[in-house]
Amino acid sequence: MTDKPTLNLNVKKEYLKGVKKIAVMSGKGGVGKSTIAANLAIWLAEVKHEKVGLMDIDITGPNIPKLLGIEDEKLMVEDKKIVPFPATENLLVTSMAFLLPTKDSPVIWRGPLKIKAVQQFIQDVNWEGIKYLIIDLPPGTGDEALSIAQELKPLDGSVIVSTPQEVAVLDVRKNISFAKQLEVPVAGIVENMSYLKCPHCGEKIEIFKRGAVKKASEELDVPLLGELPLDPEVTAASDVGKFYIIENKETEFSKAFNGIASKIKDFVDK
Ligand SMILES: Nc1ncnc2c1ncn2[C@@H]1O[C@H](COP(=O)(O)OP(=O)(O)O)[C@@H](O)[C@H]1O
Ligand SMILES: [Mg+2]
Repeated sequence: MTDKPTLNLNVKKEYLKGVKKIAVMSGKGGVGKSTIAANLAIWLAEVKHEKVGLMDIDITGPNIPKLLGIEDEKLMVEDKKIVPFPATENLLVTSMAFLLPTKDSPVIWRGPLKIKAVQQFIQDVNWEGIKYLIIDLPPGTGDEALSIAQELKPLDGSVIVSTPQEVAVLDVRKNISFAKQLEVPVAGIVENMSYLKCPHCGEKIEIFKRGAVKKASEELDVPLLGELPLDPEVTAASDVGKFYIIENKETEFSKAFNGIASKIKDFVDK
């Protein structure tokens, strides 16, 4: 580790050189972006045994620590670098939540400050040794998404999350044109909360009208990576910071997630 001053751009290049960088985005909040980002990181770290960084860039609503059950942790500084929190041996996490004085503290920042925070998470964090970096973005195509696309150029892939409703799909189109404009490769779209399986008879209940995500993926020529069911156990696990896909390997959610994660890995590894 070096002893150089913190905002040294060479440090960023060193640590993130050769690292596969994957951004998870969506137009709306509450569609499952953080759930998918966290599970992708868990999958790479615990199923594929790779060293993974998970960067929670949702500055105003950082949820990753809660999803991973590490919300009471704080980040340490060593040799003038922020040390990401090891959720497991292979999974290193940074989040704005770790820097807030209490869980209920809101962050009220304007654009330039957000950009500065994003730059700091890239430049001042010791990401040494990771092979993949998963970035959990806030909804939309605002300051954080823009600075990630610019600061981490070239990103290796982006994953766009949508729920089946037409309004959510409208945002997918915006995400895709944003990615194209910034030359961010799109690995594909994940349709989340696609259906609910009746716990009594096993019938698939399609809560929202389906088909719009598939249609958008075809029209925009972007792969549909898979469809994840709405599974109340997933919500319950994330509320208490459990690694659902590791503890419940045989469920429909976990199997579908496995397929999606493999496709994303193949996309960025090629
Ligand atoms: N497929 C799913 N089944 C059940 N609950 C889900 C699913 N996807 C996400 N959730 C839940 O929905 C809520 C919002 O998800 P989150 O990942 O925080 O969304 P976003 O990051 O897009 O705002 C969380 O409580 C999460 O546990
Ligand atoms: Mg989120």
